[in-house]
Amino acid sequence: MSHKLFSLAALGIRRFILFPRTNFGNNYNIGRILRRTSGISRDMSDMLEEYTVPDWAERLQNKPTHRVKLAHPDTPIDEWKIPDIPHGFSVHIKRDDMTGSTLSGNKVRKLEFLLADAVKHNCRHVITCGGVQSNHCRAVAVASRQLGLEPHLFLRGDIQSKSSVECNGNLLLDRMCGADLYIVPRQSAYLTELRPRMLRLAELIKQQTGESSYLIPVGGSNEVGFYGYIQVMEELRKQGVLERFDDLIFSCGSGGTAAGLAIGNYLTGSKLRIHGVAVSDDAAYFHSHVNEMLSALGLADVKSEDIVDIVEGYKGKGYGISSPGELDLITEISCKTGIILDPVYTGKGAYGMWHELKRNPDRFHGKRILFLHTGGVFGLYDGRMDALLKSKADTNKIKFWLDKNSDYS
Ligand SMILES: Cc1ncc(COP(=O)(O)O)c(C=O)c1O
Repeated sequence: MSHKLFSLAALGIRRFILFPRTNFGNNYNIGRILRRTSGISRDMSDMLEEYTVPDWAERLQNKPTHRVKLAHPDTPIDEWKIPDIPHGFSVHIKRDDMTGSTLSGNKVRKLEFLLADAVKHNCRHVITCGGVQSNHCRAVAVASRQLGLEPHLFLRGDIQSKSSVECNGNLLLDRMCGADLYIVPRQSAYLTELRPRMLRLAELIKQQTGESSYLIPVGGSNEVGFYGYIQVMEELRKQGVLERFDDLIFSCGSGGTAAGLAIGNYLTGSKLRIHGVAVSDDAAYFHSHVNEMLSALGLADVKSEDIVDIVEGYKGKGYGISSPGELDLITEISCKTGIILDPVYTGKGAYGMWHELKRNPDRFHGKRILFLHTGGVFGLYDGRMDALLKSKADTNKIKFWLDKNSDYS
């Protein structure tokens, strides 16, 4: 997935998204999508909670005033005994895969602010986009339903017919939530292909129902979603991470997590070094995203290159494409440590961390490493693990014991 084309728009998108509420009458010609939009009975503003940024983030511009509570915060930090780590290093893991069950992972952190913004602007529809197995889209579908909103997902994939749209992984949950799914070609660029369709859909919804839509860019990575990671930084601070660790490492997909953690860490003045492992795009893209965010937030005294180390070389065959070596490491880690990584993000991130610790240990500020597990487990359920799991002795320990009077075979 190339994110290059949408970075500027991602930051500015709020200017384009809100279609003022006007009364066009209820002409439901565009069908099923819009017929289901009928009223949410509770007052939407009940969902909002007032929000004040931590003191150390006070100088940021465009601070949000509200959030909605979606995540289970204060996720644990545990020692992580991954095999074959160089002597002297210790690795711990922050379990943000435990922010919820179907809302597991980093996306829900951003959605607490994005969906609060949607509710604040009285938008009943939430429109977003991603890959066909997007974690972000799934989280939008689940969270929207929890708040009584209508999710619409633009999904990129090489899919030719309706019957070929699967019911597995994140897609299964998208469907379980009754999200409207719009399939678009896999290579669709955000600015030129996706955003125009998203805007057009918002217009159609407005014409047909009079209701407003809230548009969220890929990965929820704009200056609203950013505050989700300001909150995570505050959680890390309260958990003593800034003193207990030297380095924080995680996977970078659209750059929002990197921006929030790098900028948050800078503002706290901590010595923790932030590393993002690129699983799509490259260092130039992520630095430009963080730099745009810095200027949108009014921070002119620092640049991305000084506050975050982007680790390249672990995208592998490409975004979302797994190599046998990566899948092997994921299963080795699950068999040895009980931590389940995903193939698209955390698997590549952990692979990157593991290789860098061995090959390039000086890249790290110290020896106390914290890996942020950003979720994504449903990406394992798309069938890609089948062949490996059936072929490896460790993951194919199947015995038949059909007759209680004889032993298993
Ligand atoms: C499981 C998981 N981890 C990490 C990321 C990367 O986060 P970001 O898009 O904020 O870079 C994503 C989404 O892109 C994700 O779904």
